[in-house]
Amino acid sequence: MSGFFWGALPYIAFTTLIVGTAYRYWTGERGWSTKSSEFLAKDSLKVPIWLFHLGLVMAFGGHVIGILIPKAITDGVGISEHLYHIIALGGGIPAGILFLGGFFLLMRRRFDNPRMKVNTSTSDGWIYLVLGLTIITGFGGTLLNAVGLLGDEFNYRECISPWFRSVLAMSPDVSLMSDAPIIFKCHVLLAMLTMIMFPFTRLVHCLSLPFEMFLRSPIVYRRK
Ligand code: HEM
Repeated sequence: MSGFFWGALPYIAFTTLIVGTAYRYWTGERGWSTKSSEFLAKDSLKVPIWLFHLGLVMAFGGHVIGILIPKAITDGVGISEHLYHIIALGGGIPAGILFLGGFFLLMRRRFDNPRMKVNTSTSDGWIYLVLGLTIITGFGGTLLNAVGLLGDEFNYRECISPWFRSVLAMSPDVSLMSDAPIIFKCHVLLAMLTMIMFPFTRLVHCLSLPFEMFLRSPIVYRRK
């Protein structure tokens, strides 16, 4: 089973992400949208949307540093394990609070407001569930690790990160994932599920860089 989860599923996820996204773009470009709900409930969107996206960008940066950069490189430039830990938690904990807090406020806005609720599709519901669980397991794992509850031996830069790089190098070393704590195994499986669902949901909007949005005149929504 672990051969499938850590050796085959990553490629199924990456292929679905790339091929599915291209297919969605070519066959349904007009439906390629975040389905803005600003006109349904504007005030409750303002703060949560910034919290969520700021947390997302910070957590993304943390993943690039913690997963793609080998420990040997940070050791080589003089960043000790202790210093790395301080930097990772100094950025990671605020990132997790913003990401999860923003997500919680956005979900409250969506499911508390009847107008928002009727504009929420089944695919929205599923992706919110999977995304929420991915964020909770990622941030939960970070916190448990910070307080030492995942054991002194566990260091994700010696198992999960090299496993991920071995997948990118097309030579997956599934044994690296065998001793990862269950919370991080769930996190990575949920992340792969997020990638598989991505092309068929409103998340595709993050691949469009709407720079014109910052330059164009504001769209006027009438209050009544
Ligand atoms: C296969 C892809 C992924 C891998 C291998 C992975 C792995 C990890 C690892 C090892 C951590 C712990 C970092 C630390 O303690 O400093 C983590 C944290 C986290 N992950 Fe992921 N992750 C992946 C994808 C995702 C995705 C798609 C999301 C959400 C959309 C996500 C959200 C988070 C969050 C919110 C945290 C907490 C980070 C923080 O507090 O800054 N991850 N992930």
